[in-house]
Amino acid sequence: MSYLDATQELYKEAALNPNVGLCCTTNPIGHAPGLMIPKIMQEMNYGCGSTVSPQDLVNEPKILYVGVGGGMELLQFSYYSRQRDGVTGVDSVEEMLEASKKNFVVAEKENPWFKSDFVRLLKGNALDLPIADQSIDLAAQNCLFNIFRVEDLKKAVAEMYRVLRPGGRLVMSDPICEQPMGDALRNDDRLRAQCLSGCIPIREYTKVLTDAGFGTLEIRARRSYRVLSPNHYPTDVLIHIESIEIAAIKDPMPQDGPCIFSGKTAIYYGGEEYFDDGKGHVLWQNRPLSVCDKTATALAKATPEIHISESTWHYSGGGCC
Ligand SMILES: C[S@@+](CC[C@H](N)C(=O)[O-])C[C@H]1O[C@@H](n2cnc3c(N)ncnc32)[C@H](O)[C@@H]1O
Repeated sequence: MSYLDATQELYKEAALNPNVGLCCTTNPIGHAPGLMIPKIMQEMNYGCGSTVSPQDLVNEPKILYVGVGGGMELLQFSYYSRQRDGVTGVDSVEEMLEASKKNFVVAEKENPWFKSDFVRLLKGNALDLPIADQSIDLAAQNCLFNIFRVEDLKKAVAEMYRVLRPGGRLVMSDPICEQPMGDALRNDDRLRAQCLSGCIPIREYTKVLTDAGFGTLEIRARRSYRVLSPNHYPTDVLIHIESIEIAAIKDPMPQDGPCIFSGKTAIYYGGEEYFDDGKGHVLWQNRPLSVCDKTATALAKATPEIHISESTWHYSGGGCC
């Protein structure tokens, strides 16, 4: 049985017998006025963060959600899109599609504004999406891509890139891990399917996205997620896993490389009214400017009179790259 088959098995079980805590996150469930999230959807929250942000949802966007789980985030997206077929959910596990369909009927009863046909459910594989080229404004996945081995991860990201319109965005939440993992962990298909032993360092994760062509990345959150300890898992050392939320925007790739915003801020404190680097970045005296990592490095070399903050891993827009 391949690791992909093991993943199908695990999520078939998780669809038939909801498993609270299969994945788990410390961020609160996203509520909004008039949005009731059915209990069953909360119990089937198999994500490790959130992919739903009102800032991404402008002009009646067509939304694609891959790996539907219990359907909670599709309901949250529908809250903002409110149109027939506004959100397309794709999942490879028949039982998960059936479970989420039932959950949308419950959601319809609890939310007068919601209709089940706001969501279109399709059986399909993240590695070969049943979606037309450049037909989507916002694509999302939560806690699925980390399961893929790197060659499959590249395919899944390339598929998301293919279906997005220019300027569209891919919003994701996934575990990452900065420590090496031994083969006993890496090759444990069930732990991989549980989002514990497939995750890779943030730099490798972001490189897969920029190699696929995404010109801008926003790292929106980074949190502690799990520890794998030798007394519970096949490892000799304690392994710390984090989770991230990240948006990859299908902007043209800048000639000098991608703009990755990890939450750095530049503040000029020199003797002039402002500092102009001649490349489109003007820093006014003692005013903060969010900058991407590439610009932060260039500014630090351009003059000593600029303070560059550490990455906060909590970027939510603004500034320049
Ligand atoms: C960890 S769960 C996350 C569910 C949901 N995103 C959430 O946050 O609750 C992974 C989901 O991806 C689905 N899945 C697994 N392998 C898949 C694949 N190759 N293509 C599409 N969906 C897949 C599973 O059935 C499950 O619904």
